[in-house]
Amino acid sequence: MTSVADTEQATLTRQHHRAVTRAAVLTAVGGILFGYDTGVVGGVLPNIATSFALTNPFDKGLVVAILLAGAAVGALAAGRIADQIGRRRAIFIISVVFVLGLLASSFAPALWVFWVSRFVIGLGVGATSFVVPLYIGEIAPPNRRGALVSLNQLSITIGILVSQLVAYFLAGHGDWRVSVGLALVPAVVLGLGIAREPESPAWLVRQGREDEARDVLAQLRDSADEIDDEVQKVRETAREESRGSIGDLLDRRLRPALMLGIVLAVIQQITGINTVIYFAPTVLQEAGLGRSASLLALVVVGVTNVLMTVVAIRYLDRVGRRPLLIGGMAGMIVGLAALAAAFAIGIHGSGAVFATIALAVYVGAFAVSLGPIVWLLIAEIFPLRVRGQAASIATMANWAANLVVAVSYLSIISAIGRTATFVSYAVVTVLSLIYVLAKVPETKGMTLTEVEAELAA
Ligand code: BGC
Repeated sequence: MTSVADTEQATLTRQHHRAVTRAAVLTAVGGILFGYDTGVVGGVLPNIATSFALTNPFDKGLVVAILLAGAAVGALAAGRIADQIGRRRAIFIISVVFVLGLLASSFAPALWVFWVSRFVIGLGVGATSFVVPLYIGEIAPPNRRGALVSLNQLSITIGILVSQLVAYFLAGHGDWRVSVGLALVPAVVLGLGIAREPESPAWLVRQGREDEARDVLAQLRDSADEIDDEVQKVRETAREESRGSIGDLLDRRLRPALMLGIVLAVIQQITGINTVIYFAPTVLQEAGLGRSASLLALVVVGVTNVLMTVVAIRYLDRVGRRPLLIGGMAGMIVGLAALAAAFAIGIHGSGAVFATIALAVYVGAFAVSLGPIVWLLIAEIFPLRVRGQAASIATMANWAANLVVAVSYLSIISAIGRTATFVSYAVVTVLSLIYVLAKVPETKGMTLTEVEAELAA
């Protein structure tokens, strides 16, 4: 028989579950901004070029590159801010940066305003890309952390899909200002929403604001024991550690974690995902696919990316990070090899179907592995005292690698051809998989304090 106390407890549990989910879903709106702002450019580039009379390939490349460079700078700058003023206030400031950048971009009267605004939007994208997973990781209970943090990746994939559809259907209308400006909606939602959500309890404890941390945890955790335990553990590690400074980042004990974070961040990019995300329609069209077939390829890629991220979210906390990462990367290798083969055979007729399937295999495999798990691990593996700063350095490495791949890709293709290009990405993925097998720890179900202890040992 269930007693009144049991029923009350069940109601409370449900309330806590919902409070955590609500905060995570809301902050994950930051992921929509990430995905939309990076995804929209490919499609609207021709219209922007006409609007500002950008004729040479270098200027066109700059439209993409400036945002990525801004993201690298934004990631680095926001790390200290998130450690100093807190995750919540940092996210609020980021949403304001987005609003300013997006307004300036949509209404840009002159080319220089447009360049500056692209950089400002980039600052927001870079900052949001690590603060959001960090914040969600710190408010989530250990047994749901993988799924909740990866809601951010789900938003990224949705943002990309929507942006590409918008760009595709508005292409030819010259409406790039509307396409770019639509991102104002999630930017405002993020800013207004985060103002009502709680600050990260771990950050509060670290600041010596334990009472506030307990108040927050009372909304998010089920039992007083759980709360005591969490506060206690963070307090203990905080006591052992000095203040987080740049010197601490170079601390010998932290080096392996920092190295792991940076290498994983770079691997996520150099295995080629954004050659497909940013350029699939262009490259397929150039390889002989018609406009409607390219749209189909775009939808297949975008929808597979979203759906397979949902699969990852379902399984991350059950089977763990490592099996998904390893299995997914193996799938990426198969997809890349098949893509190389498709280009070698020629993508006409049944070759086009084969190429589209290869693309879907590659993107789907990325979506269950490097897509969500790299951001998750970056939020998990660093000690609290330097978590913001260390995560921001790894994130900066991610955007820098993204920039290098984006600017070099089209030149590499023209130098060595499509087949050899994709064979190279396959080889890089094989080497990356070997690294992952050797170095990535399993963090499923552990508290962040336990992860910290394990990596230190
Ligand atoms: C990566 C992005 C990529 C996206 C694709 C993210 O995890 O950081 O660079 O465009 O996944 O879904």
